[in-house]
Amino acid sequence: MLAAKTTLIHAEEVKNILIKKNFLDHRYLPIKEFGVIFFPLLKKVKIPKAEIIDVAMDFPKKPLPLTIEGLLENKISKEELKKIPKSQEIIGTILILEIPEELEHHEKKIAEAYLLLNKHVETVVKKAKMHEGTYRTRKVKVLAGKKKKETLHLENGIKLKLHLEKTYFSARSANERMRIAQLVKPGEEILVMFSGAAPYPLVLARHTPAKIIYGIELNPSAHQYALQNVEINNLQNKVIIYQGDVRKIVPSMHQTFDRIIMPLPKTSEEFLDVALPKAKKKGMTHLYAFFNEKNLADEKKKIKNICHQLNYNVKIIRTVKCGQFSPGTFRWCFDLMVM
Ligand SMILES: C[S@@+](CC[C@H](N)C(=O)[O-])C[C@H]1O[C@@H](n2cnc3c(N)ncnc32)[C@H](O)[C@@H]1O
Repeated sequence: MLAAKTTLIHAEEVKNILIKKNFLDHRYLPIKEFGVIFFPLLKKVKIPKAEIIDVAMDFPKKPLPLTIEGLLENKISKEELKKIPKSQEIIGTILILEIPEELEHHEKKIAEAYLLLNKHVETVVKKAKMHEGTYRTRKVKVLAGKKKKETLHLENGIKLKLHLEKTYFSARSANERMRIAQLVKPGEEILVMFSGAAPYPLVLARHTPAKIIYGIELNPSAHQYALQNVEINNLQNKVIIYQGDVRKIVPSMHQTFDRIIMPLPKTSEEFLDVALPKAKKKGMTHLYAFFNEKNLADEKKKIKNICHQLNYNVKIIRTVKCGQFSPGTFRWCFDLMVM
């Protein structure tokens, strides 16, 4: 094999020339021996302060950076590898593996590979079902690593303790939460309907000059996590969480709000009759919904009609695509202003 031999004193200088001129064979590591060093070369060249020789020894191969492709090489076929989605959701130390049905017979191998790939991941699970029911929870099955379903997730400077089966949570909504936070003005009073384990109230409390943020959550387990999360983040002075049905609790609240957040995309619009009477004039309501982009105009009309029938004149200030629900169906937010 071709090598550039030089003394240790000139090693750095020679190496820099080899890199600059693209002569270094990056697949191999150099070899040091008795005050000299041999750099593996791609071709025969002339380099100042180095002797170009053909050596009999084998250069050690450079370890490849860990990739899912590298870890699964020879374990599943190249075609199958291409079908693994590039981005996987990680909540705390738990990775939620998403693979197509046709790769399920390889799920353990793939899960083990992700465990090796990501140092922070301690458990790999797969969704046994989609989010369902009023609480929007789902079952998960542990495929690799520690057998646990509770974790501590870090998002936007807050800590969230969660149980993957007992409370809804999506790490993929982190940017959307920050988008809302950036809209908040000093002194705002905010209501988060359907608050879950409290990601919205806590992100808004941490990052905005809001005066107070109320959260309401029906699921008793999610509510318990929300209470713990308020404490863990030491935000008791800005966040108040109630457990119960928004339909009962909101009408009994005396306040009106500068901002109301409605993160229940399956059926948010069914609660506009509860939310709108509590929105201040020129206040903002963020209403989430799932639909296909081609239905955007119809969905806008539908929301305007519901508000109109409730005797509210509402302007859609913006429509934001903020996540994917299934192929072709996205999570949208309507930013509504009550006029
Ligand atoms: C899609 S999750 C969103 C949770 C949280 N905001 C988040 O982003 O992680 C919707 C939440 O609404 C709660 N929920 C459903 N119906 C409700 C109601 N009538 N009153 C209060 N909460 C409700 C569910 O239990 C669930 O936790």
